[in-house]
Amino acid sequence: MKSLQAALNEFKSTFSTALQSASDEQALEHVRTTFLSRKGHLSALMEQLKNLSIEEKRTFGPLLNELKQWSEETFTIHKEQLIKSQQNAELAKQQHFDVTATMPGTLRGSLHPLTHIKQQVENIFISMGYQIADGPEVETDYYNFESLNIPADHPARDMWDTFWLDIPSLLLRTHTSPVQVHAMEKKQLPLAVIAPGRCYRHEATDATHDFLFMQLEGLVIDTNISMSNLLATCKAFLQAIFKKDLKMRVRPSYFPFTEPSIEIDITCPFCTSGCSVCKFSRWIEICGAGLVHPRVLQAAGIDTEKYSGFAFGFGLTRLAMLTYSINDIRLLHSGKIEFLEQFS
Ligand code: PHE
Repeated sequence: MKSLQAALNEFKSTFSTALQSASDEQALEHVRTTFLSRKGHLSALMEQLKNLSIEEKRTFGPLLNELKQWSEETFTIHKEQLIKSQQNAELAKQQHFDVTATMPGTLRGSLHPLTHIKQQVENIFISMGYQIADGPEVETDYYNFESLNIPADHPARDMWDTFWLDIPSLLLRTHTSPVQVHAMEKKQLPLAVIAPGRCYRHEATDATHDFLFMQLEGLVIDTNISMSNLLATCKAFLQAIFKKDLKMRVRPSYFPFTEPSIEIDITCPFCTSGCSVCKFSRWIEICGAGLVHPRVLQAAGIDTEKYSGFAFGFGLTRLAMLTYSINDIRLLHSGKIEFLEQFS
């Protein structure tokens, strides 16, 4: 029975050492499962009791009970001490908290001005019952020109300096007007859509021209659509975006896909007697528009006896530059942090 006595002593010393070195709750829990749980060392010692003679049981029974009581008490005391010291440490931390310390500035992202303007424009048109339409930026000759009543070799193609791809008949769309045709082919009539998106033109860049810019296309097809629907829509939109009661001026123009075609100017939202934005003319050119040419409707399979429509194309990049007073278009894609930070 010497061995059981030795085992009791060993339990006592290993348990004490383990407990002393347990410095957090996780370690403490590990000590508990190793020594005191149902599958722990203490239970194993207790198990041995039933193999002993009555005489030995009399000696070791009380000893083992004592050991059990002692180890459980010691464990509880140690646990309480640990919790207390953790609380004290937390309290000390709070007492030494420096309320005057400065936080290092956090970097916050912001939306790009073009995204801002796109969201505003979309909200205005959605409130008027429009849907958002979309189309590819790599277009076919058919959608960018042919279906819009601009046949091959027609001089009107010169209005759009085009980036042609190496693959025949493919190009980077020069305007968002091809989305008109996609929308007419896809959607049911009547139809009211806008399509904000990127366009590409093969031209030299300066403060007001870039080879990449954004347009906003609008298209409404219904019965009895007239020029006054177009003008009222444009006016409602422009007043909502500039938050001002602006005057509109309409000039005759030419686009192969609208007949009649017009260009719309607005009174400068930034001045009353001329400024650099309106080049001291008081008027700003803002969009091209017109009634959809019957050939365009026919190309999309629409009955021109029954339906008519209007379309408009705003320079969305230009709108952003006007609303945020951006004086160089190239800043928009410069990736300059100092520029972008202004729009947070
Ligand atoms: N797509 C024309 C352009 O890029 C603008 C426009 C759109 C004109 C719709 C009339 C109707 O200049």
